Amino acid sequence: MATGDMLMTAAQLAALESHCFKEPWSEQTILDSLRSGNYVFSYIRPDGSDIPAGYACGLIMPDQCEVQRVCVLPEFRRRGFGERLMNELRTAFEASGACSVFLEVRSQNTPARSLYKKLGYREIGIRKHYYADDDAVIYMLELR
Ligand SMILES: CC(C)(COP(=O)(O)OP(=O)(O)OC[C@H]1O[C@@H](n2cnc3c(N)ncnc32)[C@H](O)[C@@H]1OP(=O)(O)O)[C@@H](O)C(=O)NCCC(=O)NCCS
Repeated sequence: MATGDMLMTAAQLAALESHCFKEPWSEQTILDSLRSGNYVFSYIRPDGSDIPAGYACGLIMPDQCEVQRVCVLPEFRRRGFGERLMNELRTAFEASGACSVFLEVRSQNTPARSLYKKLGYREIGIRKHYYADDDAVIYMLELR
């Protein structure tokens, strides 16, 4: 991606994050991830819009991958976009040759936990008080 496109994408995704998370990623964090060769991104652009209504970001490491972010603007939820984003990340993870995918999520995040369960992720642990106001639940998916 050209530098100008990266700057524009980072600004758009930071705006998206601010509508989806209590602790949104900053534009700089997103820019660093876009510049790094280790992250994969997928986007939802309804009706060919230039502005994404959802995105997902995953980290690819030699043997395992992590889902870092998945979000969809509130007005576009429950249309299958979150599932599509997760499936696109999975395709990229499989192509990397990694064996497994990990992610962690707030225990009270019912929509995300339902999504992960639907896609075959298995709950493997809990980190008590990981967030100031919640526990983290760790999920894993075997790729092969
Ligand atoms: C989690 C999130 C990405 C789901 O996106 P979405 O586009 O609404 O999800 P989908 O329409 O693809 O739903 C797929 C499945 O997820 C689950 N799900 C999604 N929203 C749900 C809700 N509000 N309640 C219960 N289950 C839900 C269901 O299993 C659903 O399958 P179904 O439609 O067959 O019931 C979205 O709610 C979101 O952006 N949340 C804020 C950001 C966030 O918390 N991200 C996760 C942590 S990084």
